[in-house]
Amino acid sequence: MAESYKAVRFHEYGGSDKLALESIPLPELKSDEVLIEVHFAGVNPVDWKIRAGYLKDFMPVPLPFIPGIDVSGIVANVGSGVTNLTKGQAVFGIASGGYAEYAVAKSDDVIPKPEGLSFELAATVALGSLTAWKAVEDAGVKKGQTVVVQGAAGGVGMFAVQFAHRKGATVIGTASADNLAFVKSLGAEKAVDYRKGSLEAEARDADAVIDLVGGDALEKAYGLLKKGGTLVSVAGQVSEAKAKEFGITAIGSMRGPTVHLKAIAELLEKKGIRSEVGKIFPLSEAAAAQDLSQTGHGRGRILLKVK
Ligand SMILES: NC(=O)c1ccc[n+]([C@@H]2O[C@H](COP(=O)([O-])OP(=O)(O)OC[C@H]3O[C@@H](n4cnc5c(N)ncnc54)[C@H](OP(=O)(O)O)[C@@H]3O)[C@@H](O)[C@H]2O)c1
Repeated sequence: MAESYKAVRFHEYGGSDKLALESIPLPELKSDEVLIEVHFAGVNPVDWKIRAGYLKDFMPVPLPFIPGIDVSGIVANVGSGVTNLTKGQAVFGIASGGYAEYAVAKSDDVIPKPEGLSFELAATVALGSLTAWKAVEDAGVKKGQTVVVQGAAGGVGMFAVQFAHRKGATVIGTASADNLAFVKSLGAEKAVDYRKGSLEAEARDADAVIDLVGGDALEKAYGLLKKGGTLVSVAGQVSEAKAKEFGITAIGSMRGPTVHLKAIAELLEKKGIRSEVGKIFPLSEAAAAQDLSQTGHGRGRILLKVK
């Protein structure tokens, strides 16, 4: 193995022009870590939010910092205490420094990649599906309920629609016109174009709203729920006062634990759920990939092709 590798990193917070492809020494592994030779890395909104410095007060990162949480690849080395993975295994999951030829992960945060799942698709899965899993759990979604998923075509939304649908809920997903058919293909009963302003008419008295958009969409979500309903947002700050006013429960939600990755991988392998690749960029075009992510629009997960 070479002693240095190529990584995209930033030395100070700022625009995507701060991202630079550099050659750096291989990291030393802690006993519970694995080194992954990255094939594909997912580009998540949190990557550009960190780079822009929006999260620095409560989630500071050591600079220079290599973005990238979602990876697929091959285990290139294992720490002294790792017993669940071996060199040469194909894996995917949650890592750090994914925008690089090599990334480090806790050995429990990545799992063997099912054979039927391509490296490409595998890199679209972890953060989005684990976040959706937890949001659906937090919303207490049950059979027969009506659940609105705001931002249903994105990297989290595509899983939230499928998980809620699999629980037997009637799902109403929001997306722009180009993504409505995609959202329905995931199991949504209805897909509503949020740009047409018809959501209040299409989705009233919902049991739960899973908000993956924040801003205005989150503000309007309270009014879509029946009394006693549950609003879960992963994209904005929920208001206790507003929840009280509407007689609902509002929950701020985060990514669920990686222990669920195995069940998710099995569902993907059995085609019980599916994932979708967005646009693919070479590693050297990470800045363009983050710029696209920052538009807040698109279908599935944007990827960097590393190998
Ligand atoms: N708290 C956590 O742990 C956590 C974890 C993961 C993600 N997140 C957050 O969750 C949000 C979604 O993440 P993601 O990865 O799914 O993002 P993404 O892949 O960029 O998807 C965003 C989706 O939102 C849709 N959209 C944009 N504006 C909309 C609106 N007004 N109404 C309805 N849909 C709209 C877009 O659809 P169109 O292209 O059709 O417009 C797009 O499909 C981000 O803010 C991210 O930071 C939080």
